[in-house]
Amino acid sequence: MHERMQGKKYLTFTYGCQMNERDSEAMAGLLEEMGFEPARRPEEADLILVNTCAVRERAENKVFGKLGELRALKSARPELIIGVAGCMVQREGMAQKIRQLAPHVDLIIGTHALHRLPELVREVERTRRTRVAVIPAAAAPLTELPVKRSDKIRAYVNVSYGCNNFCTYCIVPYVRGPERSRQPEDILREVRSLAAAGYREVTLLGQNVNSYGRDLAKPITFGDLLKLVDRVEGLARIRFTTSHPRDFSHELIEIIARSEKVCEHFHLPAQAGSDRILALMGRGYTRTHYLELARAIRTRLPEATITTDLIVGFPGESEEDFAATLDLVEQVRFDAAFTFIYSPRPGTAAANLPDQVPAAVKRERLARLNQLQYRFTRESNERLVGRVVEVLVEGRSKTNPERLTGRTRTNKVVVFSGPEEMIGRLVPLRITAAQTFNLFGETLEDEAISEETRAPEAGSGGR
Ligand code: SAH
Ligand code: SF4
Ligand code: F3S
Repeated sequence: MHERMQGKKYLTFTYGCQMNERDSEAMAGLLEEMGFEPARRPEEADLILVNTCAVRERAENKVFGKLGELRALKSARPELIIGVAGCMVQREGMAQKIRQLAPHVDLIIGTHALHRLPELVREVERTRRTRVAVIPAAAAPLTELPVKRSDKIRAYVNVSYGCNNFCTYCIVPYVRGPERSRQPEDILREVRSLAAAGYREVTLLGQNVNSYGRDLAKPITFGDLLKLVDRVEGLARIRFTTSHPRDFSHELIEIIARSEKVCEHFHLPAQAGSDRILALMGRGYTRTHYLELARAIRTRLPEATITTDLIVGFPGESEEDFAATLDLVEQVRFDAAFTFIYSPRPGTAAANLPDQVPAAVKRERLARLNQLQYRFTRESNERLVGRVVEVLVEGRSKTNPERLTGRTRTNKVVVFSGPEEMIGRLVPLRITAAQTFNLFGETLEDEAISEETRAPEAGSGGR
């Protein structure tokens, strides 16, 4: 069977969050098991998969834009297989809509049917008819799939799938299904094999990592999982996302403070600063609760960064409610924030609320919020100027291939000049300049590479 795909090439386009990136890696793994090889450009691909996101209308529009672009390729080469996967596909009526608006699509595969990809690709090859596989999440088995990772230094590891929270604005629980935790042994096995393969960093993924393990036959907390992962030899850094402020415990702050590898970065989406809006969103915490968490983090780990997600223009958001969001930003002084204009998602509770905020008001609020947050982002970066920080070097800078780029434990990107051999290593850098979205650094003269980050073959002798 495998021979049939030998020499054939595939390409994936991924929209959305890290979950989707991880799913694309699983699809790539499945395809490579069939004999497919990665293509560099769409023109040389025999199979193109578009992995979609449904979180905002804009994300969906981008997908239709991409499918439109691919139409010409398909006309020129009818044997090209075009597939659509991901969260959008799970939406009610969407498979139909895709077939109508993009009839050149050959394969529609939901987030819970990934394991069926090989079989479906073969069917399309054989029959040349459109195949649709969308399974409701509840019926989906939790299968361990092969994986072809897109990076050799940092890797994503799922700890849970789905979400039970049903925040009233959010489509994720509908498209990703109820929360299901992976067994700790499976997670540890994956992390250990990554460490053995030379990976330096893992990011543990879940929509709400703080409720991890509650649904398992043998319940375990996320904090206990972190302690286990922290002990895996060979890794340098552990990250996790996303934390829900309602379920975030002070105990977790302590575990992180005492851990060796868990990075001092908390991504803690606040969404809004007004209690009235938080209640309408169904977030299950108050502004005071959030401020207390932020204070507890800053007290126990003064070096840690706190980042967040904020939504403006939720239905019924008054100028006063919005001012409460600005005030939250002032009080916490987030190190960075992802800010979004509320996008009504059909089928969610908030889409039917009265008092939808006019588009112009939403845009104006977003601009004001960004203006304020950028100031704090910049200040947070400026505090590092002159200091020496440890950076995990990720690769060449995308904007300037002459330079390298790396990340601090606190998740700030630093651009600097250095030899290519530094890629994949932890190096100390002196921060020389700060902008809102970038830090610039230089290597230290005598100790360009610190002791612990030397490659094993360099031996353990002194300097
Ligand atoms: N599970 C994560 C969030 C996943 S979605 C959490 O609970 O934090 C990522 C972000 O997209 C959310 O934090 C929210 O800020 C934003 N978002 C989700 N639905 C949205 C919508 N309908 N309109 C605008 N932003 C939205
Ligand atoms: Fe969406 Fe809320 Fe679940 Fe996050 S916690 S994925 S925002 S429903
Ligand atoms: Fe992620 Fe978008 Fe799906 S944010 S979970 S890819 S809807």
